[in-house]
Amino acid sequence: MNSWSEKYSTNVELIDTQHKKLFEILDQCYELLLNPICLDKYDKILHILDELKEYTSYHFKCEEEYQLSIGYTKFLSHKVMHDEFIKRLNDVNLSEIDNDQDKYLNSLLDFVQKWIVEHILYVDKEIPNNTKKS
Ligand SMILES: [Fe+2]
Repeated sequence: MNSWSEKYSTNVELIDTQHKKLFEILDQCYELLLNPICLDKYDKILHILDELKEYTSYHFKCEEEYQLSIGYTKFLSHKVMHDEFIKRLNDVNLSEIDNDQDKYLNSLLDFVQKWIVEHILYVDKEIPNNTKKS
């Protein structure tokens, strides 16, 4: 599992703190996936999925507010990416979960993790820190 490390740092403390929390939620998902004792993971999957959606929406809102506060020129295109990701999470077809829970959770995690890692590395890291002394 990918955990937060310095390579993901945006140099904006609030954003980094929230990214760490996103990685933690992802980690919970992986733990559940690897748990051999828990056979029916359905309720737990729903719970984590809700938490992920809720926290991601909150985090995006904070990040967007920060971008607006510093007059970030790429705000709109950045917000489009956030909105698309939320839409993808909302479009998750819950009726598919029961068929093959591990497979379902695996592909969901795969998608979420890749998106978050790439978004942080290639999009969020471009956000300037207006408090940094030059
Ligand atoms: Fe972002």
